[in-house]
Amino acid sequence: MKPKEVDWGRLESVIDKHRGQTWALIPLLQDIQEAVGYIPPESIEPVAEALNLFPSQVQGVATFYAGFSLKPKGKYVIRVCRGTACHVKGGRSILRLMKKELGLDEGETSPDYRFTLEAIACLGACFLAPTMMVNRTYYGKLSPPKINTILAQYGKEKEKD
Ligand code: FES
Repeated sequence: MKPKEVDWGRLESVIDKHRGQTWALIPLLQDIQEAVGYIPPESIEPVAEALNLFPSQVQGVATFYAGFSLKPKGKYVIRVCRGTACHVKGGRSILRLMKKELGLDEGETSPDYRFTLEAIACLGACFLAPTMMVNRTYYGKLSPPKINTILAQYGKEKEKD
């Protein structure tokens, strides 16, 4: 599996929607990420030109916010919570297990672009601690057997020791 090819036509129409709206840098970057899955570095200059900004300004915003990514991510982005509520309920061992099962460290994407693993400060569902998300789906009250069941749903078979 390769990262999705960038649809430059679609990207152009997203940029055109905000052309001249200097104030709309963040909404435009959000729209690009929604359309393409990340902010392709090649889009920095066209965005700057469309909004009458310097490329360094666009680059600065795109790299400052953790919600924006300049690298393609996997088909399934797994976000494991490492916030306090999850930590006291065993979140650290969930993250450790996830790293082992996926063979990934935090922030890494598998070579086949199937999985990206991220550790997040709080997923906003502390009552479900320990929690994680796969794309937009929440999973809570996690335990090691539950992790293996969830990963199997996304095509990751348990590694044999
Ligand atoms: S601390 Fe984990 S969801 Fe809030």
